[in-house]
Amino acid sequence: MKALRRLGPYFRPYSLQLLGGIACIAAAVLAGLFGPLIVGRAVDALVGQASSATLLIYGLLLVAVTAVQGVFSFGQRLILVSVSRQIEYDLRNEYFEHLERMPLAFYQRHHTGDLMARATNDLEAVRQLCGPAIMYSTSTVLTASGALFFMARIHWQLTFLSLAMMPLIALVTQFLGHRIHGLFGQVQEQFSALSSRVHESVTGARVVRAHAREGSEVERFALTNSEYVRRNNRLIRWSAAFRPLLQLLTGLGFVAMLWFGGTLVSKGEITVGEFVSFNFFLSKLVWPMIAVGWVVNLVQRGTASLRRIEEIKETEPEIRDGSGAAVGEVSGAVRVTGLDFSYPESADPALEGIDLTVAAGETLGLVGRTGSGKSTLLSLIPRLLDPPAESVFIDELDVRSLPLHSLRAAIAVVPQEAFLFSTTIAENIAFGAFQPERSAIERAAEVAGLSADLESFPRGLETVVGERGITLSGGQKQRVALARALIREPRILLLDDCLSAVDADTEERILRNLRRVFLGRTVFVVSHRISAVRAADQIIVLDRGRIVERGGHGELIRQGGVYADLARRQQLEDELAAV
Ligand SMILES: Nc1ncnc2c1ncn2[C@@H]1O[C@H](COP(=O)(O)OP(=O)(O)OP(=O)(O)O)[C@@H](O)[C@H]1O
Ligand SMILES: [Mg+2]
Repeated sequence: MKALRRLGPYFRPYSLQLLGGIACIAAAVLAGLFGPLIVGRAVDALVGQASSATLLIYGLLLVAVTAVQGVFSFGQRLILVSVSRQIEYDLRNEYFEHLERMPLAFYQRHHTGDLMARATNDLEAVRQLCGPAIMYSTSTVLTASGALFFMARIHWQLTFLSLAMMPLIALVTQFLGHRIHGLFGQVQEQFSALSSRVHESVTGARVVRAHAREGSEVERFALTNSEYVRRNNRLIRWSAAFRPLLQLLTGLGFVAMLWFGGTLVSKGEITVGEFVSFNFFLSKLVWPMIAVGWVVNLVQRGTASLRRIEEIKETEPEIRDGSGAAVGEVSGAVRVTGLDFSYPESADPALEGIDLTVAAGETLGLVGRTGSGKSTLLSLIPRLLDPPAESVFIDELDVRSLPLHSLRAAIAVVPQEAFLFSTTIAENIAFGAFQPERSAIERAAEVAGLSADLESFPRGLETVVGERGITLSGGQKQRVALARALIREPRILLLDDCLSAVDADTEERILRNLRRVFLGRTVFVVSHRISAVRAADQIIVLDRGRIVERGGHGELIRQGGVYADLARRQQLEDELAAV
């Protein structure tokens, strides 16, 4: 019942259809209850040597009643199943919409396969709860009460005796239902694990092949798979015992009824026809009893699944809109003061005491060893990660106070790892902007240094890339991602080592092209190469989350610290390469 209340909000938009469906169920049940009455009358008429014409009338009545029942059960299915599909549709949309709102950290906590399983298997179980479960439980309740009413009218003591088994049946249902509920939850959990396995193995196909791990992957999968089968088998054992047990118990009820009812007929307390009717009514009760078990099962599964879906839907995105007003055009000044940041699951801070000021239109170069916190710092500006309050400001407004949409509209990030959708290169670039002109796409591709590559592709910009852009080289992918950011013409452009897979010469050429784009924009350039940052207005060197050096290129070289060291080594490498 509690579960049904939770479903209330989902049903609300369809309350009219729901009522119509329930009315159909009531009509079908009512028509069905006439059957046993007619048969009873016919038997009594037969005992009284009725004419064949009378019997024919009874026969035709029976057909008519069945036809009416048929029409309404058709209507009931049509309406209620379509309502359940509608609810499934709504729920799926809401679920997806919610996923879209979740921050990056959420996806680091949840496996893709698990999120997929909730959207498929669990959603289907909820649909069964909304459609079939409601349909069968309503018709069961109505049929049972109708049958009981007519049985009691025939002979109430006989009715009472036939139902002696009821409490036992209820007990068995309760016990098995509980058990099945628990086991079903375990099955769903394992299915999620199985989906995650497949998902990781498929997306990581390249790594698996490269390390020749196919065999062990298959083994690991077989292990997860056999656990899934094992849990399913346990579930099957319990749910298979359900029906025979109930049938046994109802069978015992029949024995009592035959014995006592037969005596009543021979004593003349009820007619043969009534006895036959009674029998028919009692057998009408058997299905509801079995259905109860089945419906309980559906409800248990459905609610377990609903909980799994709601668990995700109730996870509030940790990063939410700030309460401040939306800003129009920002000028792009970035100020960071006393910024400390730690990832929730790690003890060491990723950034400590970061202070920096970048005026609107300036370029900041960021270098530092791997793991020194460069990507973390960039992610905090558009709140892909959430900075502490009063530590990151854009145009002197705390980024936490701005609506996310407004904040992120002003910023374009080119992440360290490019991700492309499996569509055309043109669409991948256009993804960053709202319906851009063709010429804008072409310009962005050109500035990102893609022209030569595009010429070598048979279909140019219309070339479709494989899943995650797998058919492009690393450097090509990176430049498509760069073009995607450029086309948005952002006030603030964050480049996270986004040309790492391109050779140094090409990088320099692209950066030269980009100088024009940088004009009037605030730009952060993260790179491992000195050549990429040397032209920046100021350069910051990070080490283990702290700023260890800062200044212009010349200044830093003169200081003779980490930066100068790095510059010397890279120059040496270049000279060696040139030899
Ligand atoms: N999602 C995360 N959860 C926990 N720790 C993280 C996470 N991402 C990064 N870290 C840790 O934070 C530190 C800084 O990482 P970050 O990615 O900012 O380094 P980086 O300077 O960008 O390195 P690289 O040059 O290799 O890209 C590292 O010690 C890293 O292990
Ligand atoms: Mg990084």
